[in-house]
Amino acid sequence: MADRQKTTLATLIAQKHRGIPISILTAYDFPTAQIEEAAGVDCILVGDSAAQVVLGFDSTLPITMDFLVTIAAAVRRGAPNVFLVGDMPYLSFNVNAEEAIRNAGRFMADAGCDGVKIEGDARIADTVRQMSAATIPVMVHLGLRPQAVHQFGGYRAQGRNAKTAQQLIDDAKTLEDAGACAILLEAVPPEPAKIIADSTRLPVIGCGAGPHCDGHVVVFHDMIGLTATPLPRFVRRYAETRDYIQKAVAAYVSDIANHAYPQAEHCYQMEEGQAAKLTPAKNRSAPAPSPTHPPTSPKR
Ligand code: KIV
Repeated sequence: MADRQKTTLATLIAQKHRGIPISILTAYDFPTAQIEEAAGVDCILVGDSAAQVVLGFDSTLPITMDFLVTIAAAVRRGAPNVFLVGDMPYLSFNVNAEEAIRNAGRFMADAGCDGVKIEGDARIADTVRQMSAATIPVMVHLGLRPQAVHQFGGYRAQGRNAKTAQQLIDDAKTLEDAGACAILLEAVPPEPAKIIADSTRLPVIGCGAGPHCDGHVVVFHDMIGLTATPLPRFVRRYAETRDYIQKAVAAYVSDIANHAYPQAEHCYQMEEGQAAKLTPAKNRSAPAPSPTHPPTSPKR
């Protein structure tokens, strides 16, 4: 993917209209971003799911703007050509539109994002309108909204009956009219997802919303089998990296226990004849090196 061009919002909209599926993954760090860009993903979401998969919280609520902006900038350094979306954390956009614009502006100006994502239904239309007027491309996240877990009473699929599915369809239209740049549907049956995808000019990204969406997103750690907890039904695991990494770590621990590592090839050599000049330290009362000023590590 060395000759890859920058993916923009126009690219994603063109993909929708040409029927070319849009691939999206989450990323939370520089090397993962490099891997994803090299593998050809169109778009990276720096998701607030980092709260759970990276920081170990049991919901997305505790993650902060500072943390997400810092890691979004690292992801941008690793993936300069993807369409990069910063996920606005809990209450960073719902207090008032001014705060939403300021916070979104940090993702755009400080981290180099191409847009932001906010969770909500038709009630956030006015915020979307004002953010959009402030030149911020806003992806709206409908359906299962993890930030509303306490209102939903758990992580449950949404739009499973005609009334709630119709509400999703109507909300998507309201948010498109308010100026959203894309729609993300999480844990929604394929039928309403298809109606939404067919009736909007915006890219519709499914996260457990069936095959008719214009693109799909999952959490990177789930997809590569690094997550320990049970996964949502819509995730396909493409690797079992947790087992693989654990075996590597166990081999390292075992090698150290058995004096099998490090060996000669891992050592730096002294200059010719210098080792023979060394003697044990004469001054036994010399202070130990201060732990606050450890010796500098050699170059790799
Ligand atoms: O935070 C996140 O990773 C998300 C995706 C699951 C869509 O919002």
